[in-house]
Amino acid sequence: MKQVVLFNGSPRMDGNTATILNTVARGAQDGGAQVKIYTLFKMKFMACQSCFACRREKGQCAINDEVTASLEKVKTADAVVIGSPIYMMQMTGPVKNLYDRFFPLMDAQCQPRYGKKKLLTVYSQGMEDPHMFESYFEYTSAMFPAFGFDLVGNIVCTNSNDPESAERNAELKIRAYEAGKALAS
Ligand SMILES: Cc1cc2nc3c(=O)[nH]c(=O)nc-3n(C[C@H](O)[C@H](O)[C@H](O)COP(=O)(O)O)c2cc1C
Repeated sequence: MKQVVLFNGSPRMDGNTATILNTVARGAQDGGAQVKIYTLFKMKFMACQSCFACRREKGQCAINDEVTASLEKVKTADAVVIGSPIYMMQMTGPVKNLYDRFFPLMDAQCQPRYGKKKLLTVYSQGMEDPHMFESYFEYTSAMFPAFGFDLVGNIVCTNSNDPESAERNAELKIRAYEAGKALAS
């Protein structure tokens, strides 16, 4: 059974990012995968302390908190989904902190320690133009190969200040559901 780990980086528990991630999770479950959703704004976790213990200890983070536990899930996962609203033209702070905490996933040569995993990214933005942050998404994706993440898709929800935008967008929800199903295959 495929393992899919999802991270929600929005403070709005029932917002657009949550709607899309829940739909992806449903698709993955219907495809036969086991899913686990982490809500970063509910979790107590530290930022990376730059101790480099993960380099010395071959992938073991020196911090012991809720992200450390999620990291163990990511290490063995077949697919990872990371959802973030766009704040000030970037991912939210907790999502950036999560990526920093993924440092143990790469070795000193910036090669993945735990093999390849599919990655689906999800962004929601207030702006209407879905291409507005394309160059940022591409720039950000340059770090993924070092984690072993193979980017298979990026779902962007626009006009997202209204927390129900995604819920009303049938086409987007179908895309999210199908993307989830594909992660299970
Ligand atoms: C502090 C803050 C900064 C924001 N910055 C941007 C921005 O730079 N560009 C944009 O399109 N939307 C911006 N937004 C709007 C959010 O992206 C939008 O409300 C969010 O995608 C909603 O997602 P959610 O329902 O999952 O929380 C910002 C919102 C907040 C609260």
